[in-house]
Amino acid sequence: MPYEVFARTWRPQVFEEVIGQEHITKTLKSALLSDRLAHAYLFSGARGVGKTSVARILAKALNCPNPQEGNPCNACTSCTDITHGSSVDVQEIDGASNRGIDEIRNLRENIRYLPSHGTYRVYIIDEVHMLTLPAFNALLKTLEEPPGHVKFIFATTEPHKVPPTILSRCQRFDFKRIPLSKIQEQIKKITESEGIEISDPSLSIIARQAEGSMRDAESLLDQVVSFTGAKVEDAQLMEVLGIIDRDLIFKTTQAIIDGNASTCLDIVDEIYRYGYEIKEYYRELMAQFRNLIVSLLAQEPSRILDVPDNELNETKRQAQQAGIERLLQALNFLINREADLRYTSNPRIALEAILLKLSGLKEYLSFDDLIGKLDVLEQRFTQSAADGGPREGIDEKASGSEAMVPDDGKRWNAFLRYLSSKNRAMANILKEREPSTIAEDRMELPYGKGSFTASYFDDPDHFEQLVAYAREFFHANFKVIFTKQSVAVGTEQDTGNNEVPEQVNDILDIFEGKIISRD
Ligand SMILES: Nc1ncnc2c1ncn2[C@@H]1O[C@H](COP(=O)(O)OP(=O)(O)O)[C@@H](O)[C@H]1O
Ligand SMILES: [Mg+2]
Ligand SMILES: [Zn+2]
Repeated sequence: MPYEVFARTWRPQVFEEVIGQEHITKTLKSALLSDRLAHAYLFSGARGVGKTSVARILAKALNCPNPQEGNPCNACTSCTDITHGSSVDVQEIDGASNRGIDEIRNLRENIRYLPSHGTYRVYIIDEVHMLTLPAFNALLKTLEEPPGHVKFIFATTEPHKVPPTILSRCQRFDFKRIPLSKIQEQIKKITESEGIEISDPSLSIIARQAEGSMRDAESLLDQVVSFTGAKVEDAQLMEVLGIIDRDLIFKTTQAIIDGNASTCLDIVDEIYRYGYEIKEYYRELMAQFRNLIVSLLAQEPSRILDVPDNELNETKRQAQQAGIERLLQALNFLINREADLRYTSNPRIALEAILLKLSGLKEYLSFDDLIGKLDVLEQRFTQSAADGGPREGIDEKASGSEAMVPDDGKRWNAFLRYLSSKNRAMANILKEREPSTIAEDRMELPYGKGSFTASYFDDPDHFEQLVAYAREFFHANFKVIFTKQSVAVGTEQDTGNNEVPEQVNDILDIFEGKIISRD
């Protein structure tokens, strides 16, 4: 299908067609209607958001003999000349390639002449921040005493590079990035009227990729259509744009929330089979955790979130299932591990490790789970009291109420049993340690500098996990503190021939091994 690029055929021709910049178009229209126009305007904003389009509409409206309520008629010679870029009265100058003093001097010579047809000579200078300082100074002189028949419209993506002396002589309008939903709406309209078949999810992918620029969205659409023809399949779109399938991202977050490790491995496999960029995938995953968090916290999520409507419900549902703590934990973890991917020689393994770890992050329990666990715990306490109590930490004074309020030793052992059901290795490592204090709000464990236990819990992940388990078992504000005193249970003194150093014992514990020979 032969066509002009969409960005050109779909350039807005009246103020109402300019999307997302109503704050600007309304002001300009009413200024035109009441004839209260500035001599110079500065349009700032990202590329592809409508600066040039509005400049042209304004230039046309200024010169149109037959304006329609502030809009150009787009039918007279003046209007059509400007649309086609052949008007002598309206000139567009590219600031980037006409940066010097000479060009501005020429312009100043030109300005003297009255317009040949219309009422105004209009100079549109694009990327005005590129002008040299002498050029700016020459321009400033004109701006200080502008002839009545001249209007300037400056456009720039970098307004901070425009000298304040120039800025102060312009009426400034800041063009906004266009919201995702409006971009999607517009490219849907374009495809419908151009007879292109494309699904809503595909449109939303293009809109997201455009990051607020309508022109970018239109150019992406060009790219896709020139590859696929008038019928765009979702899979083709992904291929052309090299975009990570949204379903895969949702599948990942769900697997992480469910703690489903095997699905995580499948996902990594899929990423490799499709040949996705791992970093791109990681970026998308982080963005989606951010979305999940925002969807829980924001009053009006659809305004802050860059999530298309068709994803909003599922995003909210997942977020509610996971809960805020869990999501924050996951996002923090992703942020902390980003560097792992960058520096590894094997990104696949690194990604697998990260996803597996994420899927194993402590689950925050639902209320029902919690009640269930409390039942089990109570049973255990009652039973161990009936069995004659645990081997250590018997406190005669407390015996009357010990089923309800277990003393430190019992609490410690009960916790170890619980930990053992969650993380055997960690429980084994802690088994030899008794907390020096176990109070209502915290336990203190001897650090044992240099020991295996110490180095194990030096890893912030392990420590965090321990805290998480302790909080799950005791209560949400429970603290775990390693005290820097010397080790309470030590074998430093008695390293007789047959004694195994403590570190080795620890290792044997974790791997449930035994020493076969000693040479
Ligand atoms: N706000 C907008 N509303 C509708 N279309 C837009 C808008 N902004 C950009 N476009 C599309 O992008 C093309 C280029 O826009 P343009 O006005 O030249 O952007 P800028 O000058 O800000 O880079 C337009 O022809 C139009 O197709
Ligand atoms: Mg432009
Ligand atoms: Zn006209």
